Amino acid sequence: MKMRIIKGKNYDEMSRMAADVVAAQILLKPNCVLGLATGGSPLGLYKSLIARHNAGELDFAAVRSINLDEYKGLGAESDQSYRYFMNKNLFSHVNIKTENTFVPNGLEEDGDKECARYDALMADMGGTDLQLLGIGHNGHIGFNEPADAFSTGTHCVALAESTIKANTRFFASEADVPRFAYTMGTSGIMHAKTVLLIASGKEKAEIIKKAFTGPVTPQVPASILQLHPNVIFAGDEEALSLL
Ligand code: GLP
Repeated sequence: MKMRIIKGKNYDEMSRMAADVVAAQILLKPNCVLGLATGGSPLGLYKSLIARHNAGELDFAAVRSINLDEYKGLGAESDQSYRYFMNKNLFSHVNIKTENTFVPNGLEEDGDKECARYDALMADMGGTDLQLLGIGHNGHIGFNEPADAFSTGTHCVALAESTIKANTRFFASEADVPRFAYTMGTSGIMHAKTVLLIASGKEKAEIIKKAFTGPVTPQVPASILQLHPNVIFAGDEEALSLL
């Protein structure tokens, strides 16, 4: 593993520093493929990218993006879907072409069909240049939950109880959180040329320590990043406090 650590004093500083990495990737390769993530962690980074775009510093005209995951059963119109999140928090504020942005189709009921389509799409795009990742409290990446074996391709997962609880904050009630999701698998994530993991807050410190200093195990899906040759970890002081 080659891991570089970027340490911000707090969430805002960490977000700006992580945005520097994404901005550099776009400047170096204007038609790069960005693997994008949802959740609270990348929000500040997206804000920072939008500010740079508004300042005329960042051009998304040729950028393509492919997202990690989507709730099964939710479509673009649902304000809890990840497609909606991406439109609202990034795509609608920059000049990326909508047809160059990809998120699994949560409304496709045939899981095998949707997962095969997504893997073919990813292969077509040549994989991602830079994959953004958050990390769940149980070590999940995308929606790859702790399991007996590492996943490979895009698949449909039953969300862990702890993930449903953690994501309830975005829904009216726990009962409204979808129980299934489509997620890029471990191989899709691991084939990225560079992985940019972002985590903040002391509630992430323990899992960060486990993922990067503990054994590589499917029980901690993020631990597989120890085998990736090029990981950049952007954290704030609290998330990094146990490393
Ligand atoms: C969600 C997403 C993940 C995300 C994680 C952490 O379940 N599917 O891609 O990384 O939770 O979210 P947060 O950044 O809000 O802590």
